[in-house]
Amino acid sequence: MRLLSCLLAVAGIWNCATAKSTNAALNKRQATSSFPAYTIDMPIDHFPNSSRYAPHTNATFKQHYYVDYSYYKPGGPVYLYIGGETSGRSRFPALETGIIQILMEATNGLGVILENRYYGQSYPFNTSTTDELVYLTTEQTIADNAYFAQHATFPGINGSLTAPDTPWILYGGSLAGAQTAFSVKTYGDILYGGIASSGPVVAKLAYSEWYAPIQKFGPSDCIASINAIVDKMDLLVSQNQTQAIAELKAIFGLESIPDIRDFAVAIAAPIGNPMFYPTYTWQELNWDPNYASDDFWYFCTNVTNLDAPENVTAVDYALANYTNGEAWANLGNYARYIQEFVIPLCTSGDLNSTSCFGTQDPAYWADTTNGVLRSYLYSSCIEQGAYQAAPAYGPSLISRVIDVNYTQQWCNWAYPAGKYNSIPPTPDLSIYASYGAYNISADRLAFIDGSSDVWLDMCYHSNDAPERTSSDLHPELLIEGSGHHWDSYGILDIDAEPQFIRNAHLWEIRTVKKWLRDFQ
Ligand SMILES: *[C@@H]1O[C@H](CO)[C@@H](O)[C@H](O)[C@H]1NC(C)=O
Ligand SMILES: *[C@@H]1O[C@H](CO)[C@@H](O)[C@H](O)[C@H]1NC(C)=O
Ligand SMILES: *[C@@H]1O[C@H](CO)[C@@H](O)[C@H](O)[C@H]1NC(C)=O
Ligand SMILES: *[C@@H]1O[C@H](CO)[C@@H](O)[C@H](O)[C@H]1NC(C)=O
Ligand SMILES: *[C@@H]1O[C@H](CO)[C@@H](O)[C@H](O)[C@H]1NC(C)=O
Ligand SMILES: *[C@@H]1O[C@H](CO)[C@@H](O)[C@H](O)[C@H]1NC(C)=O
Ligand SMILES: *[C@@H]1O[C@H](CO)[C@@H](O)[C@H](O)[C@H]1NC(C)=O
Ligand SMILES: *[C@@H]1O[C@H](CO)[C@@H](O)[C@H](O)[C@H]1NC(C)=O
Ligand SMILES: *[C@@H]1O[C@H](CO)[C@@H](O)[C@H](O)[C@H]1NC(C)=O
Ligand SMILES: *[C@@H]1O[C@H](CO)[C@@H](O)[C@H](O)[C@H]1NC(C)=O
Ligand SMILES: *[C@@H]1O[C@H](CO)[C@@H](O)[C@H](O)[C@H]1NC(C)=O
Repeated sequence: MRLLSCLLAVAGIWNCATAKSTNAALNKRQATSSFPAYTIDMPIDHFPNSSRYAPHTNATFKQHYYVDYSYYKPGGPVYLYIGGETSGRSRFPALETGIIQILMEATNGLGVILENRYYGQSYPFNTSTTDELVYLTTEQTIADNAYFAQHATFPGINGSLTAPDTPWILYGGSLAGAQTAFSVKTYGDILYGGIASSGPVVAKLAYSEWYAPIQKFGPSDCIASINAIVDKMDLLVSQNQTQAIAELKAIFGLESIPDIRDFAVAIAAPIGNPMFYPTYTWQELNWDPNYASDDFWYFCTNVTNLDAPENVTAVDYALANYTNGEAWANLGNYARYIQEFVIPLCTSGDLNSTSCFGTQDPAYWADTTNGVLRSYLYSSCIEQGAYQAAPAYGPSLISRVIDVNYTQQWCNWAYPAGKYNSIPPTPDLSIYASYGAYNISADRLAFIDGSSDVWLDMCYHSNDAPERTSSDLHPELLIEGSGHHWDSYGILDIDAEPQFIRNAHLWEIRTVKKWLRDFQ
């Protein structure tokens, strides 16, 4: 889905490079300011003795980092903003107005963004074959953070600021949040502390819980309509009603998409999923108007529109003969929204192509060109999982035809076995689990999550996790009503923020100040 490719995934909205939005404010995301950019010669392979990386290399690559000196005063800490699954440059807003700005200002700190290996301008190789991707693992990535803290140079500052003599405090949101937690846990002797925000620290194969907050907190009449339409569709699928399914596809204007799963994902575009989707969704709601998209609310007001023209509401009855005469409430509204606001994103008009909604062309996945999608999918396939899937029981916002095989097939097409490296048949979830799963803990490692984040159930405050208690050494905070790492955002005026965010920021400042007070 190249044209529509908008890898939000565990990403947060900053990765969504090409998607169009009804909300012009989102375009403000393209940061205008710039920060000095440097590179460090980073070893490609931090584990010369591990068989996982045979035959090994002693080569280095240029890893990019960006520095904000504006708040620094001698004696201040270094805040390392973990790049995660996007380019370093797309993280500039955190230096300008977000959490790093807030913490730098509060403590005379230096702000640094380290770009993740295999993203942005920090690729070790010119292409991403399966063999070349072998060094894209969690352990190599977090080893970069420790190495960087020990070797980084800052030309704008006199003297050395390396760890552990200077307190380095990591911050990461989303995948970078998990990397922050794993870094502090593994390299606590080097890295003084860290805040993991909405970090999916527990890997899961199928991540149907992605839909749970939408199911729970979305406008209930909209949600119920989608649930009922999905149930009816799945009934037709289970009965192999090929004619009816063809009619259903045609109602959405998607009759040219042969694969029922591609069709199911296309009509779920406004709702989203953990991998790729073309429009803004629940995950892109935000308290900060500069980063918020209201697309999800618009989708729902369209689906529940009571004033639709008669020829639209008539569509609700088009398939009633297949469902014992029962109408498909709001099917007309739903289909109209997809036709008006989703299908036009496919500018080529070739709906079944990989630039639009088709995913079944193996050659597309096998393209070894470096890219954010290819790197992110690789991590999903080998370690993280989080494949899109309908819940095993209960109501669903997506058709049950979407199962883990749908994603695993992309992995298999994308990363055929190389000479040295091959992907596992299914993601190796034990790698994440080795950091402690829901028991993960380290001194001065803080966890902050949002109660209505689609990623909550892979995070520290998951509904599956034990009850949490906080302390200065092991602080934790679940922000009521917050989405995906909403504490990352700021507006240069904490007092003007919504109360739960304001108090999260004040909590983060206090937490870090207490740590720094104890630094020797
Ligand atoms: C690799 O093994 C050699 C020989 O046992 C040892 O000297 C070296 O320290 C090890 N390197 C790392 C990075 O563990
Ligand atoms: C890397 O350098 C070490 C020390 O010079 C050497 O023993 C090792 O064989 C080298 N590894 C590779 C893959 O070239
Ligand atoms: C990668 O591309 C650059 C720029 O085109 C080139 O200089 C370099 O030799 C290439 N490296 C490899 C390993 O092919
Ligand atoms: C670094 O130190 C030198 C000599 O003490 C001084 O002239 C210079 O202004 C300092 N530079 C910065 C960036 O502090
Ligand atoms: C479903 O129906 C099609 C066309 O009627 C038929 O070719 C196919 O074998 C059926 N599949 C199953 C699983 O019954
Ligand atoms: C339908 O969605 C569009 C696009 O987001 C929005 O502009 C419009 O206001 C919505 N219409 C209704 C009736 O909610
Ligand atoms: C309903 O009628 C309008 C105006 O004639 C037309 O533009 C639209 O395509 C029709 N919609 C459906 C679902 O038939
Ligand atoms: C549904 O069935 C009835 C009775 O057989 C028929 O009159 C009607 O045209 C059918 N409706 C549709 C949409 O096929
Ligand atoms: C849809 O795309 C797939 C993958 O490229 C291709 O195999 C299939 O023939 C296409 N089907 C149609 C109906 O275009
Ligand atoms: C997934 O694919 C595997 C291997 O192709 C197959 O054995 C399994 O039955 C499939 N599972 C589902 C739910 O389709
Ligand atoms: C977490 O710790 C509890 C209590 O010590 C233990 O019962 C549980 O098995 C641990 N879970 C994991 C995933 O390690």
